[in-house]
Amino acid sequence: MLLAQKAFTMPRAADLVRKYLDGTTASGIFEAKAGQAIGGETHVYSPAYGEEELRDLLGFAHTILFNSWREWEHWQPLIRTELAERPQSERPRFGLRVNPGYSEVETLIYNPCTPLSRLGMTPEAFNQGLSRWDSSIRRDPEPSQCPEQPYIDGLHFHALCQQNADVLERVLEHFLTHYGAYLERVNWLNLGGGHHITRPDYDIDLLIRLIERLHTLYPHLEIYLEPGEACALNAGLLLATVLDIDPVSRNVILDTSAACHMPDVLEMPYQPRVWLLDDPAAEATVPGSTLRLSVSVTDRNGLENTYPDCLRAAADGGERYVLGGPTCLAGDTIGLYEFNRPLVRGDILLFGDMAIYSFVKNNTFNGIPLPALLWLNSDATVDTIKNFGYRDFIERLG
Ligand SMILES: Cc1ncc(COP(=O)(O)O)c(C=O)c1O
Repeated sequence: MLLAQKAFTMPRAADLVRKYLDGTTASGIFEAKAGQAIGGETHVYSPAYGEEELRDLLGFAHTILFNSWREWEHWQPLIRTELAERPQSERPRFGLRVNPGYSEVETLIYNPCTPLSRLGMTPEAFNQGLSRWDSSIRRDPEPSQCPEQPYIDGLHFHALCQQNADVLERVLEHFLTHYGAYLERVNWLNLGGGHHITRPDYDIDLLIRLIERLHTLYPHLEIYLEPGEACALNAGLLLATVLDIDPVSRNVILDTSAACHMPDVLEMPYQPRVWLLDDPAAEATVPGSTLRLSVSVTDRNGLENTYPDCLRAAADGGERYVLGGPTCLAGDTIGLYEFNRPLVRGDILLFGDMAIYSFVKNNTFNGIPLPALLWLNSDATVDTIKNFGYRDFIERLG
């Protein structure tokens, strides 16, 4: 089981990752270096590598995945040169990402299996490349024939997003239809991420049965999973302070921003849970509609602005507010929330589930400061990991 670092990379959490997982998987050289520092196996997949990047990766990565036969072919000279003097036991393993041709991810930007997806090879592309590269898929090196020749000994697919094991079962069926014949010829199979294993309703027994079934069919096969979200699901709190409240529109401006500090709220989109600090038991409820969701159905002329819906909701009773950030982006809103008392300036809100993706994707658009990073110890003491200041902002901008 690997941690997909794209979802959560935090050096301070390295001991925890080491304790429970076998290694990490990276999207490129920086994450791979961060993964190397954690330890265990360091896997890496990128839709395309740069030359310096791949040269560096060849120096330390445990497993390098290519997106296509084209990438594999293009990098043969570099791989052969870099590995020429290296004994087999010290070489990275190589694999290919394939597209199982089936997924149940409804949000298009998160679906890697659309027909023209650029992520992984379709069965057609895979089969076409075999006319040239069939002999480079094999379980063992062939020292007698060509000792320096690199070879592919694993396959990878990623087709899930926040899903349960029943979806994996259906994706696997498609994967096996297209690629099952090659599993005899490789040492390992990576089932990608998107498995919501730590969610209370996740069917772990089914996951175990699926892996056992694969092992029955292919006893030699090493099976990997590389969840990101599930590794830190519901972890991480973001503290925000109420800066201003408009009593008419019920807009609340916070010192935190959806666009800067939780971009997945806008991209995914989703609405995070919120607590009001002086009453930890009082979680804000999320009334049916949100400003953000409403905005997405606004017509092209902007005439049907659904903002009045929020006003109506507020007028209906309850302490309803639209929480938003201090940036210039009109849509920098986190959503419509209901609290059990009126908010006042200076109130502190806690946003939940902020460790995954929000954390690695944050930015300083509009020069909005990044929040400090704090670590809550199990004895309830808090360590400050990093405070971000003006220098961090301006130095990154050159
Ligand atoms: C190749 C690959 N592996 C793993 C993951 C992690 O997925 P998740 O965080 O949904 O578990 C992703 C996410 O996009 C991915 O693209």
